[in-house]
Amino acid sequence: MRIMPVTQNIYQPKFKSNANWVYDKYGNELYKTTTYFFRDDLDWENMIKFLCNRYKDVPKVNFINHACSNGMEPLSFLMAFIIYAPEMVEKFIPIIAKDIYQENISAAKKGFCGASVDDFLRTHNMTQGRLKEFLTLIPTSGNTKDLFYLSPNSVLKDKIIFEQGDILKDVRYTMPDNTILSCRNMWMYLKPHQKEQLAFYLGKNLGKNSTVILGFLDNYEGNAGNLLEKNGFKRCPVGTEYINIMYSKD
Ligand SMILES: C[S@@+](CC[C@H](N)C(=O)[O-])C[C@H]1O[C@@H](n2cnc3c(N)ncnc32)[C@H](O)[C@@H]1O
Repeated sequence: MRIMPVTQNIYQPKFKSNANWVYDKYGNELYKTTTYFFRDDLDWENMIKFLCNRYKDVPKVNFINHACSNGMEPLSFLMAFIIYAPEMVEKFIPIIAKDIYQENISAAKKGFCGASVDDFLRTHNMTQGRLKEFLTLIPTSGNTKDLFYLSPNSVLKDKIIFEQGDILKDVRYTMPDNTILSCRNMWMYLKPHQKEQLAFYLGKNLGKNSTVILGFLDNYEGNAGNLLEKNGFKRCPVGTEYINIMYSKD
């Protein structure tokens, strides 16, 4: 998969890596694979503190990161747990990371994440000077617009299980209590009836004490919050209007 930064974006960052459209056989756009480390529609520290507090009396949490793209998102969740709640990491791993697009999962398993200078600096800041502990910086060959690859070190390996999967199929099965399901920045690619179905099955099949984590675009372009509320979810009291968009039923 070719990994390239793009500059256009409707809200914030100057840089995005891993941004490719995926098309169907007729050439229609299906979805874009855009992601990057520590996407800034989460206040990562407050999100981790909220989850640790919510699940403090629970021995094991089932963490599913759907629409994980090339793996930078679950790696960010994992680094954030290690940084902000090292004593509680075990409870939240392994993270089950899934994406519908097999190339994303293959890239995630290879573990070479393209990064520009901006991406490198944001990751450096977010990891509080511990970047080298988590990631190895490998210069690119010059055939890509990325300046580096950031490749996960052993401290992050074996704590994330990558699998190809379609969230619309997975949510049709009952999920355990104490599930955290992240499905961020993907609702806008679903057809209206698919969004309705996704919200309905999340409401029906997530176990007790579960949490859904959305991204900025899911509400801004995808109507996800309204649909979840229609199915019994409430916004969790964490973050400001545009960040930490999390829902639960209890
Ligand atoms: C814009 S990216 C967002 C990646 C990441 N969640 C983030 O916020 O940075 C959207 C991702 O959703 C995935 N996707 C689209 N439809 C999906 C589905 N039905 N099930 C699972 N993943 C899906 C795409 O392959 C793509 O990687």
